Amino acid sequence: MIQRPRGTRDFGPAEMSRRRKVEEAMREICHRFGFGEVVTPTFEQSELFTLRSGQSIIDEMYVFKDKGDREMALRPEITASVIRFFVSEMSNQPKPLKLYYVGNCFRYENPQSGRYREFFQLGAELIGSENPETDAEVISLAVHCIRASGLQDFHVRVGHIGVMKSLVLREVQDPVVAGKVLRMVDKEDFDAMGDMFDANSLSRNLFDRITTLADTRGGTEILDSVDDAEAQQYLKELFEILKLQGVEDVELDLGIVRGLDYYTGMVFEIDAPKLGAEKQILGGGSYTLSELFGGEAVFSTGFAIGIDRVMLALEAEQEQPEYTPLDAYVVPTEDAMRKYAFAITSKIRSKGLRADVDLMRRSMSKNLKYAASAGARFAVIVGKEEMAKRSVTLRDMKSGEQTLVPADFVADELEKLLSKG
Ligand code: HAM
Repeated sequence: MIQRPRGTRDFGPAEMSRRRKVEEAMREICHRFGFGEVVTPTFEQSELFTLRSGQSIIDEMYVFKDKGDREMALRPEITASVIRFFVSEMSNQPKPLKLYYVGNCFRYENPQSGRYREFFQLGAELIGSENPETDAEVISLAVHCIRASGLQDFHVRVGHIGVMKSLVLREVQDPVVAGKVLRMVDKEDFDAMGDMFDANSLSRNLFDRITTLADTRGGTEILDSVDDAEAQQYLKELFEILKLQGVEDVELDLGIVRGLDYYTGMVFEIDAPKLGAEKQILGGGSYTLSELFGGEAVFSTGFAIGIDRVMLALEAEQEQPEYTPLDAYVVPTEDAMRKYAFAITSKIRSKGLRADVDLMRRSMSKNLKYAASAGARFAVIVGKEEMAKRSVTLRDMKSGEQTLVPADFVADELEKLLSKG
């Protein structure tokens, strides 16, 4: 048997139905906020990502040579592709641009629950504007998307990468070492950071300042302890606007240093505490990338939601909704009724209801068993006696109750019954 690749998954109809519902709810919110959908290729020239996405992502990329000997990569994320698209085809459009996307991403990681080699993101990028209200709009969109998924227990943290970056870059002369320090702060790997400080003869005092800053979390009152006046004022305004947008449960966290290298200012993350180790369901922030791809430097703010993790968090939090893939399953009582059953099925489908019909030439009792196991809400029994009265029998698969209805109105009757639940 051929196994599917490690870290990838197959999704069956019940799971896909739940995933699509969540995705649709989030798409609807994106449209409400004035964002339009874009789709970019699943693979890109690997340079698109190596230019700025950050070492950890590059180490995890699926890279391959195509038949023309060009180095390609499966996309590890979608932000770089959207900005490439913007630079090459949309840079003359009036700003800001509000774009969103849904797609699969690939990272060669150590698979575990919530961490996959192929996973799905819904993300948004607001391009061409840089101010607290832009960042607030994007954070607000992110929070509304998560709310729309139905998730109750989640935690929003907002920080400013400039504060930690300026401290580290000011005090650590070697940019390679500085980059490593920032990555260790991102991973909260302070033991390894201590070893690296010793190996590079960096001061304990700096180590303490970095760990204290990484631990600085709380309400807006901690803003007064931010010694970067510009970041302080920026965050103050941002939190004010968020409050006016009804997004209040937000923690200020100066320890957020995101793994991707392109962030310049505000950074934010959303966690679902029930998920344990892989609890981050969303990450984002403000950045510039366009100048790297040959365009003008344009500020943007965006985020991406890990849909797989949102689904896991929803599973941990709520009962899974019942899956009823069919409104009706049409059952002929005998061979002579089979063709007529197709006409009835067609009538039901043309009303927009989901209907299926026996294709296996089963007996009526086996068909009723099948209808139950296929998750049909109603069975439509097409028999000789009913036919003589130009009628069919509707059987409620939950209660077993049966009603005779005129064949011409079968779809209307089903609709009425379905609306009752
Ligand atoms: P990211 O934090 O690398 O950011 O990924 C965003 C989200 O994707 C994570 O919070 C997580 O939920 C999910 N995710 C990441 N890796 C995996 C994985 N291996 N398995 C399952 N889920 C995963 C970005 O990708 C940026 N492009 C976000 C952004 C957009 N920043 C600005 N604009």
